[in-house]
Amino acid sequence: MRTLVKNIKSLVQTEDKKRIAVCGADMSKLNCIDNAYLIVEGDTIFDFGRMEDLKEENADTIVDAHERFVFPSFCDSHTHLVYAGSREIEYMDKIRGLSYEEIAERGGGILNSAKRLQQASEEELYQDAMQRLEEIIGYGTGAVEIKSGYGLTTAAEIKMLRVIRRLKENSPLTIKANFLGAHGVPLEYRGRQSEFVDLVINEMIPLVAQENLAEFIDVFCDKGFFTVEETDRMLFAGMKYGLVPKIHANELDYSGGIQVGVKYNALSVDHLEYVGKDEIRCLKASQTMPTILPGAAFFLNMPYSPAREMISAGLPVAMASDFNPGSSPSGNMQLILTFACVNYKLTPQEAVNATTLNSAYAMGLSETHGSIARGKKANFFITKPIPTIEYMPYYYGANKVEQVFLNGRKH
Ligand code: NIG
Ligand code: FE
Repeated sequence: MRTLVKNIKSLVQTEDKKRIAVCGADMSKLNCIDNAYLIVEGDTIFDFGRMEDLKEENADTIVDAHERFVFPSFCDSHTHLVYAGSREIEYMDKIRGLSYEEIAERGGGILNSAKRLQQASEEELYQDAMQRLEEIIGYGTGAVEIKSGYGLTTAAEIKMLRVIRRLKENSPLTIKANFLGAHGVPLEYRGRQSEFVDLVINEMIPLVAQENLAEFIDVFCDKGFFTVEETDRMLFAGMKYGLVPKIHANELDYSGGIQVGVKYNALSVDHLEYVGKDEIRCLKASQTMPTILPGAAFFLNMPYSPAREMISAGLPVAMASDFNPGSSPSGNMQLILTFACVNYKLTPQEAVNATTLNSAYAMGLSETHGSIARGKKANFFITKPIPTIEYMPYYYGANKVEQVFLNGRKH
């Protein structure tokens, strides 16, 4: 089955030679081919180039993309999109002035979602999450990482991860699962947090590994949540079972989360509101992808991660949605482009790199996703008629995606 997309106004993020990520000053470069074609064979990108070099127009399907841009699908490397119920009550508490930590203290926040998730059936969770996946496909996402972490008991964590496995089996999105047993401390473990950490290590991790339910292990390593020492113990235990670390770090403080993530060669460290010289130095000497979650910082009105400093220091930066019911109830990666530009002063080109190739790296997918390259997975979207690349972040709030292709098929 061959598909030809022709007359593309501009084909964005093309690579003749595949890169695994883009760092520093290179992030402002984005290869694009104007007046281009793209050929898909099966589920794979077969070829692309300039219209004048297109040899023959035979294909099973021909799509005319006149006036339209083609982008590689977004890779959303950090979400919590399996959850039960929404949390707009806490949103109102926040508007009235309570902080994220104060809400958590009162048993709200993650514990609130955990209570609801424990009561929800696997089927309900699956149906709700599937609907969210459909929603983000419509906004241009082609690969997504999904975390557990609203279970907080062994049974509920396994239930969540089984839901993610079913999503993997039935959704056209490429999905990676991240085991986040240590997302919050259940009320019954207050004051004996280390026993909860023992439960994660001795009971949850072996079960997750036995059923092969996750690729990654995450910990919310931050002030008021899990300490560096606890994170260290859990990552060490997870790695013994083949889980690759990819953690929440430095959202609420200079917590040491980045350092412990790097120590265990984490694929990514995410949030990063609190990053100073030491953290940048540490990241520079690593293979770990610094990942910013602009939706959460916006929605919680938090300080913004110093993205420009990181890029100036030569680091790569990835960005993801953090789609979850508490701190970022949106999985719209087009909005992330806008936040990247407005709040973090990234150029649109840097923002595209952060949400495609670099975020693919942050979920272990940059070999196959995140750019238009021969042999990569044919996950891309065709925009509505738009004038320029810059228009994508500029015309914010509207969906600029018109057609989506996943695994070479129109969705
Ligand atoms: O990434 N920071 C930790 N966890 C989530 C929030 C989850 C929630 O509030 O439900 C986050 O923002
Ligand atoms: Fe998160």
